Amino acid sequence: MKIAVLPGDGIGTEIVAEAVKVLNALELRFEMETALVGGAAYEAHGHPLPEATLQLARQADAILFGAVGDWKYDQLDRPLRPEQAILGLRKNLGLFANFRPAICYEELVNASSLKPELVAGLDILIIRELTGDIYFGQPRGRRVATDGHFPGAEEAFDTMRYTRPEIERIAHVAFQAARKRSKRVTSVDKANVLETFQFWKDVVTEVGKQYPDVALDHMYVDNAAMQLVRAPKKFDVVVTGNMFGDILSDEAAMLTGSIGMLPSASLNASNQGLYEPSHGSAPDIAGKGIANPLATILSAAMMLRFSLNQPAAAGRIEAAVKAVLAQGLRTADIFSDGTTRVSTREMGSAVVKAL
Ligand code: IPM
Ligand code: MG
Repeated sequence: MKIAVLPGDGIGTEIVAEAVKVLNALELRFEMETALVGGAAYEAHGHPLPEATLQLARQADAILFGAVGDWKYDQLDRPLRPEQAILGLRKNLGLFANFRPAICYEELVNASSLKPELVAGLDILIIRELTGDIYFGQPRGRRVATDGHFPGAEEAFDTMRYTRPEIERIAHVAFQAARKRSKRVTSVDKANVLETFQFWKDVVTEVGKQYPDVALDHMYVDNAAMQLVRAPKKFDVVVTGNMFGDILSDEAAMLTGSIGMLPSASLNASNQGLYEPSHGSAPDIAGKGIANPLATILSAAMMLRFSLNQPAAAGRIEAAVKAVLAQGLRTADIFSDGTTRVSTREMGSAVVKAL
């Protein structure tokens, strides 16, 4: 089992180290190789996704990814910014299916900004299309400056675009995921305004006919954003495009109390996957040893389940995470009165001990 380990920037290195510690505590053998990505790679090699890093990722069975980005790179020409590393990995490896579960752990019900009764037991799965839409439209905009901005320009644009096969394959992923859950899919679009999303809705409806056992409904993205904070438990599997999925998955994550708890998986057609926490590089708290490593540790569990065919080991990690929460251990983001505040490393070690 070959794992490419790409810690990236900010808290990325701290949280990935804890996930690696947890993986090494299993009675399994992994071949792990680490490489630079994002701002760290730009500093060392002048590019956020150097060829060697991309090659390592291509050859691995799975990629464990931390986070990329820092405000200090905001002035760089767009192709050199850290975010291009993750976008480049997604595109180059064809990682079109992004799974973003939003689960509210019993112990963290009070950490949510919503009333406990609205989020207790919440378990929804956002499936975000990850390699199309306005993120990868053609042309991708017009550059008139080298500093990443457009002084004096009168116009800028990005094109929104989806092809039938792109929509079909993500729809299949959603319907198949729903079959393993409560057999309901909500497809989120903006068909009342955008042609791209009328097309999306039509194609998802067509694919849905092959899954008569799964109930499909459609919702406009603005309404979905509202319903997510009004009655989130009404959702089960949500499937949507790249842009809407980016926004809605952050919103859903926050319902659970902390974005520091949520893992994600990005898969391609051959189940090769990139696993990363749903949160970013948080440069404001980097190097302080206070970041929550649980999202990354849970991402490692998803990696074992989806790409490495080790469901038992995945289950053990998830149980160990629940155990440390039950013990009352909390990093700063989920700390509340009556619990024990621990550092990033202490949290990782507690999970290892619980294993
Ligand atoms: C995410 C992030 C990325 C995205 C950024 C870092 C490019 O926000 O994974 O949700 O927009 O997809
Ligand atoms: Mg995002």
